[in-house]
Amino acid sequence: MEKKLRVGVLGATGMVGQRFISLLADHPWYEVVTVAASPRSAGKTYEEAVGGRWKMAVPMPEAVKKLVVMDVNQVEAVAATVDFVFSAVDMTKEEIKAIEEAYAKTETPVVSNNSAHRWTPDVPMVIPEVNPEHFEVIAAQKKRLGTERGFIAVKPNCSIQSYAPALAAWKEFEPYEVVATTYQAISGAGKTFKDWPEMVENIIPYIGGEEEKSEQEPLRILGTVENGEIVKAKEPVITCQCIRVPVLDGHTAAAFVKFRKKTTKEELVEKLVSFKGLPQELDLPSAPKQFIQYMEEDNRPQVTLDVDFEKGMGISIGRLREDTVYDWKFVGLSHNTVRGAAGGAILCAELLTAKGYISAK
Ligand SMILES: NC(=O)c1ccc[n+]([C@@H]2O[C@H](COP(=O)([O-])OP(=O)(O)OC[C@H]3O[C@@H](n4cnc5c(N)ncnc54)[C@H](OP(=O)(O)O)[C@@H]3O)[C@@H](O)[C@H]2O)c1
Repeated sequence: MEKKLRVGVLGATGMVGQRFISLLADHPWYEVVTVAASPRSAGKTYEEAVGGRWKMAVPMPEAVKKLVVMDVNQVEAVAATVDFVFSAVDMTKEEIKAIEEAYAKTETPVVSNNSAHRWTPDVPMVIPEVNPEHFEVIAAQKKRLGTERGFIAVKPNCSIQSYAPALAAWKEFEPYEVVATTYQAISGAGKTFKDWPEMVENIIPYIGGEEEKSEQEPLRILGTVENGEIVKAKEPVITCQCIRVPVLDGHTAAAFVKFRKKTTKEELVEKLVSFKGLPQELDLPSAPKQFIQYMEEDNRPQVTLDVDFEKGMGISIGRLREDTVYDWKFVGLSHNTVRGAAGGAILCAELLTAKGYISAK
């Protein structure tokens, strides 16, 4: 790319926003020129606005420290400074829906981490290796919004990334019933142990709204584009329990699967490790070389050892074995704030850029 695209991060001061800022620090295609947050932060430098809230293991990038934070709600003013935005604001669903559409209508593409638009029929929800063809609905969305280049694209919930990629890799064996339990990190709630001491040595068997997302979103990912809308797949039916566990980063899932077609462990493992998509073919900057790794050791994948596989963009699967009630069972692990949040959104943006949906204004 001759000149880097100008990027804004909406919700830049929050947990996911900080992850965007960190991952974009040396990005070959994108330069963060605008940071925006609530009116509480607006007018301060990014460094002042974040203050003691910096939660990343790496230091705050120098290039953003002195950027003056803009108010997310000043849509025209923010949009005028950028080619596209990443969205990670924490507002009500209705507010997020409205503000992301407002940005799109200023001809500013929005790549969102938020759930607000995940079920809007003409908004693509994409895991770039799995369903990049869903970007086709953008044409219908632009027609509805009356835009030429403005649109919204979203990434799915962090919880599904530990098992949905495996189901996609095994599509030809026709998985039709899945039981999954997720063991989810506290950073998924925007928290560290310092600000959520109740989670030390504790398990909380409830994460608001998460089970429905974990059961339904894989069906939309595995769905098809019909008449400018995404039609969700009917199978596999999924039932899920989502549990908060005392882990900082990394969502684990234990899943049981029934397949219509008989298969073997060798075939299942082969499908996992050979599964790749456009990000690998196009060699996108944030694409993992290996999307899914399979680990033979009985005690892997482990959060502390494996969460950063492929810089947090790869999925680790292990413990694949035959089951007495279901056909097969396995354990999956993914990085919830990298692949599951900012990294997944950045990979979507890279694919949208490579496909010509995002360009300089
Ligand atoms: N954490 C995760 O792993 C994860 C994963 C998937 C999805 N998500 C979703 O991503 C979004 C952000 O999550 P987070 O954990 O980063 O939240 P967070 O740490 O609470 O950050 C929220 C951000 O939104 C801004 N904000 C809050 N109220 C606002 C308002 N009224 N107007 C404009 N901006 C406002 C905040 O600005 P100030 O600093 O000025 O208050 C901050 O920049 C949420 O919708 C969350 O559900 C999070």
